[in-house]
Amino acid sequence: MIDRDQIRQQDLYLINDSFQNRKQYNIPKAQLVIADIPYNVGNNAYASSVRWYKDGDIKNGESEFANSQFFDTDKNFNLHEFFHFCSKLIKPEPKEKNKAGALIVFCAFEQQFELINLAKQFNFKNYIPLSFYKNYSPQVLKANMRIVGNTEYALLFYRDKLPKFNNNHKMIFNSMPYIKDNNIVKIHPTQKSTKVLKQLISLFTDVGDVVIDPCAGSGSTLIAAAELNRKAYGFEIKKEFVAKFNTMLKTNIQKNLFA
Ligand SMILES: C[S@@+](CC[C@H](N)C(=O)[O-])C[C@H]1O[C@@H](n2cnc3c(N)ncnc32)[C@H](O)[C@@H]1O
Repeated sequence: MIDRDQIRQQDLYLINDSFQNRKQYNIPKAQLVIADIPYNVGNNAYASSVRWYKDGDIKNGESEFANSQFFDTDKNFNLHEFFHFCSKLIKPEPKEKNKAGALIVFCAFEQQFELINLAKQFNFKNYIPLSFYKNYSPQVLKANMRIVGNTEYALLFYRDKLPKFNNNHKMIFNSMPYIKDNNIVKIHPTQKSTKVLKQLISLFTDVGDVVIDPCAGSGSTLIAAAELNRKAYGFEIKKEFVAKFNTMLKTNIQKNLFA
């Protein structure tokens, strides 16, 4: 575990711009791109959250979150441009085995099939579905006598060669527990756990490798990567998330909250 002073010395950049403008920045090619893409959930962003109702109770009527979106960038996400970015920014396929780069996309269950089809056009011909099960569910509304979702979905894409894989020559199941961050600064409504991200980064990269998150939100991927001594670059178009990320790094909160 590195501390915040070391984090500062790392290559750790959250760029307040859209990933489409990548050419304006001198970003090295990545061993791993991790992206949690907008789910295009529009005004139903809180449909499966208790926050839809005042104080989380249906009896109190709807809250300000009912019929609202997470943020105004959570729609019209251009998947073509996203895959184009990934195809340019992941290191070219190496000759050796166990060195190839990879792309991990967190997405809604319904987005998976579109992503799998589109990925092929950008030479990401192969994929492995990943799922992360929580021991809680955000879908607690009207939950009596029905199944509620507790799973986060992701797809691991690769070109021809299997991605670099560091697990002491042991296999790993594609369904893994979702380990929550404790006492984390909440910057983003769909913030990912750095513990989950660290597990993935450890598996698919080595120390010194570059990790990029093109839709970085709170910068959780960058923090996870930096804590593992990887170089981390991210893009985020919303100023407020980038400002909060920068404040978090600056104000020493980092060390305790990500330890
Ligand atoms: C699902 S959230 C990512 C949350 C992030 N994984 C976290 O842990 O905080 C997707 C983010 O992508 C951002 N975004 C959408 N379009 C973008 C673009 N073209 N370039 C950069 N960021 C973008 C949104 O503003 C949003 O914060």
